[in-house]
Amino acid sequence: MKYILGIETSCDDTSMAIVQLDHNKTNILALNSYNQDFILEKWGGVVPELAARSHVKAIPPLLDVTFKEAGIAPEDIEAVAVTTHPGLIGSLLTGINLAKTFSLLHKLPIIPVNHLYAHLEAIHLTEEVSYPYLGVLVSGGHSAFMWVKGPNDMEILGTTLDDAAGEAFDKGGKLLGVGYPAGKIIDDIAVNGDPKKIPFPISYLRDRPGKMSFSGLKTSLRVKLEKMTPEEIQAELPHLCAGYQEAIVQTLRIKTEEVITKILNQKVKTFSTPIVLGGGVACNSRLRQVMKESFKNVHAVKPLYSTDNAAMVANWASRVLDSQIPFPECLTIDPRSRFVEKK
Ligand code: KG4
Ligand code: ZN
Repeated sequence: MKYILGIETSCDDTSMAIVQLDHNKTNILALNSYNQDFILEKWGGVVPELAARSHVKAIPPLLDVTFKEAGIAPEDIEAVAVTTHPGLIGSLLTGINLAKTFSLLHKLPIIPVNHLYAHLEAIHLTEEVSYPYLGVLVSGGHSAFMWVKGPNDMEILGTTLDDAAGEAFDKGGKLLGVGYPAGKIIDDIAVNGDPKKIPFPISYLRDRPGKMSFSGLKTSLRVKLEKMTPEEIQAELPHLCAGYQEAIVQTLRIKTEEVITKILNQKVKTFSTPIVLGGGVACNSRLRQVMKESFKNVHAVKPLYSTDNAAMVANWASRVLDSQIPFPECLTIDPRSRFVEKK
């Protein structure tokens, strides 16, 4: 059976994977990632130029290690899957250039992968979830509600108007001085805090179903912190983290409910459709707990596959390949990316 090489460089993680689809289940033969957090920590966020340069350095050794780990040869690969959108252009180009080079050398088709779709479909790496499902995609760069009808058929129902949920965690963490990326750090500190002690505002945007906003939350944290001494901030840190996190989590809960009642109810009569939580913020323990308590059929992507990784990229491609559904025309990076022509 043939294998898919997956490449992910859309933001600040360089990741490569080799997978094989067997009876609708994606087996991961190798997954290797290089994380730039230590480079970006002092900036408190992603610096596109630094991220792109770091990908260039990390890619050659990762390719080597990944083939060694999988124990296969390049000739065994059937197609190269690469994230082509959305993402930072300098970062994306590094992965795309590797995909093009590998494809030219080994005469392989390239499968262009939508990073957001791949985040949600990563659920199938560990469990089978039936279509259609409501995808709640929450990452550092994006927040979106997606109606997923099949391996290659989805519709965006709503997005954030400004910051993404993960960005709200990271920017809040920068104000609190807890380190980068701040999502996991705030999650851990919040365990010892009372979410009600220091409440934060929620953007309801009631007349805009499915639309989210997180930028006001960060401003409200800044205003609160300006009124506190460093000692007070330190003493209240668990409560500040718990309250701030709660506002993000409750916004996502309220907005999910709104999408179900105001948008999806026109599509499905009784909502027992699965909900899939994906993207880096899907690792958040409070979000997982609240979503599971609030809705019937919630599936969260395993933390290992929630943050950016190439297994989700290769997994998406192998499922679409297997389903024989034509690939859509998208950012074409090589004529051979129109995989359907090869069949
Ligand atoms: O999906 P991802 O790896 O990258 C993008 O596609 O953006 O998501 C990274 C984001 C970061 O903002 C990070 O702070 C957040 O996921 N994150 C978390 C947690 N773990 C990672 N946010 C909240 N709680 C967590 N446990
Ligand atoms: Zn991502």
